[in-house]
Amino acid sequence: MERHRFGRTGLEVPVVGLGTWQTFDVDRAREGRAREVVEAVWEGGTRFYDSSPMYGRAEGVLGRALGERRAEALVATKIWTSSLAEARSQFDAQLDFYAGRIDLEQVHNLVRWREHLEWMEEERAAGRIGFLGATHYSPSAFDELEEVMRTGRIDAIQVPYNPLEREAERRILPLAAELDLGVIAMRPLGGGALVRQFDPAELLKWTLADERVHVAIPATSNVAHARTNTAAGGPPWLTADERERLASHARH
Ligand SMILES: NC(=O)c1ccc[n+]([C@@H]2O[C@H](COP(=O)([O-])OP(=O)(O)OC[C@H]3O[C@@H](n4cnc5c(N)ncnc54)[C@H](OP(=O)(O)O)[C@@H]3O)[C@@H](O)[C@H]2O)c1
Repeated sequence: MERHRFGRTGLEVPVVGLGTWQTFDVDRAREGRAREVVEAVWEGGTRFYDSSPMYGRAEGVLGRALGERRAEALVATKIWTSSLAEARSQFDAQLDFYAGRIDLEQVHNLVRWREHLEWMEEERAAGRIGFLGATHYSPSAFDELEEVMRTGRIDAIQVPYNPLEREAERRILPLAAELDLGVIAMRPLGGGALVRQFDPAELLKWTLADERVHVAIPATSNVAHARTNTAAGGPPWLTADERERLASHARH
């Protein structure tokens, strides 16, 4: 799988990661499937895994599915709460799930980002966090996301990017490139809706052909889908014309 330099972090990231929203929020009896998905994407070269306390049981399921692989994985998770006490509980749980360290800690949906970044910076100095990031799923929050980016306090952002969600192209991706931030594309398959119109590998290549994006994080609960997704993480990429043609056929 092709690797990209993840902005100024200097990390080398295989371009297809794994999201865990919904797909990893499963009970113990169904964790075996999540483990098989992790095994499949790991074999395909994936090393970047995204989760959040917002995703129910997903963080713990991911930690157990990674098992010994955790040492070689890049774990990107999030803090999602307006309470600083709850943030501490979320972080403590993450340290348990991921062997005492979070590679990329993101402020989920920008909730109380100023206050969270303060304690996160202390945790980064103490070595329990590698890098800091911020995420938002809605273009209505992109003004505020831009403000966070310009503070110089974060190393990475996560935004939606697929043929029907292109708002990040206007200001967020150019600014991320200017500031040399890592860029994670969430919802690369449009939450699953776009796979009814297009080949999922083409969709992933559509997102990854934009050089300002470093890693796309499709989620799946299906081992065959996991293999398809990792196989998309290499050339040939789509040309600019092919990207526009595909996007022109995308329908809500
Ligand atoms: N920070 C935020 O606000 C935020 C918001 C949304 C998402 N995210 C992150 O981004 C990740 C990805 O976004 P997402 O989960 O919303 O949507 P997505 O990855 O665009 O789509 C996931 C859906 O696509 C299906 N799928 C995956 N691979 C497939 C394949 N090869 N063929 C056919 N169907 C396939 C999955 O179903 P199967 O299980 O059947 O494969 C699943 O229903 C999330 O899991 C999460 O980690 C973050």
